[in-house]
Amino acid sequence: MEMGNSWEPKKPIMSILPLKALLSFLESGGLNLCQQFIWNNPAKLPGPAQWVNVERIRVKDAFTNIWWMSNSVTPKANNREVLSEYSDSMKKLLKSKKYNSGKRPSEHNIGETSFLSDNSGAIPSNVITAGNTSSTDIYQKYCQSKGITPHPARMPMKIPEFFIKFLTHPGDIVLDPFAGSNTTGFVAEQLNRRWISIEANNDYILGSVGRFYKNQGIN
Ligand SMILES: C[S@@+](CC[C@H](N)C(=O)[O-])C[C@H]1O[C@@H](n2cnc3c(N)ncnc32)[C@H](O)[C@@H]1O
Repeated sequence: MEMGNSWEPKKPIMSILPLKALLSFLESGGLNLCQQFIWNNPAKLPGPAQWVNVERIRVKDAFTNIWWMSNSVTPKANNREVLSEYSDSMKKLLKSKKYNSGKRPSEHNIGETSFLSDNSGAIPSNVITAGNTSSTDIYQKYCQSKGITPHPARMPMKIPEFFIKFLTHPGDIVLDPFAGSNTTGFVAEQLNRRWISIEANNDYILGSVGRFYKNQGIN
């Protein structure tokens, strides 16, 4: 579940409604909080405008929360499916096989071979950085051509891509109960998962057809 930060009307303080919603979901649904994620969106417009841009007493709100919940304490998950590219320094180290081992100020004891195995990539963190979808993508063009207003709050494909790869296998079913433009269904399809998407607004459903009009492919 992804939930944005929200603010109290006319006051420079945050609403705790999202936190209450999280607790309520966990308690009433008998769910476990497996891990909290941050979606860092560098393209997010500065806001709340009154406090950030006008009075300059708050800083830009640039992230939303993604809460991974499950009724199991050990749901299916594999971080090997979502490895990120090694940093340049790690690539160098793997090549040279040289680094300073021994005790760090943090008390960590780094062994002589701890960093020498190439695992094909780094274990990612729970901060996912992704900007909003490009305004010239095929979905937008399709909506324009049909006179449909595009969904105003589409998420980048990187978000469902990460969780679908991390938490499911090909052939599994991915359900998005608040599908909007069906970013989730499209990415699931690309990753050979089956999908069910539910959306209340008929225009958004009609527009979502554009995602499948021509196969865009994802990396
Ligand atoms: C933030 S949008 C989701 C955007 C989507 N992730 C995307 O990338 O396009 C939330 C969607 O939930 C839909 N919605 C709200 N209440 C709903 C309900 N009770 N049943 C089905 N859809 C609902 C809204 O119409 C809206 O399109």
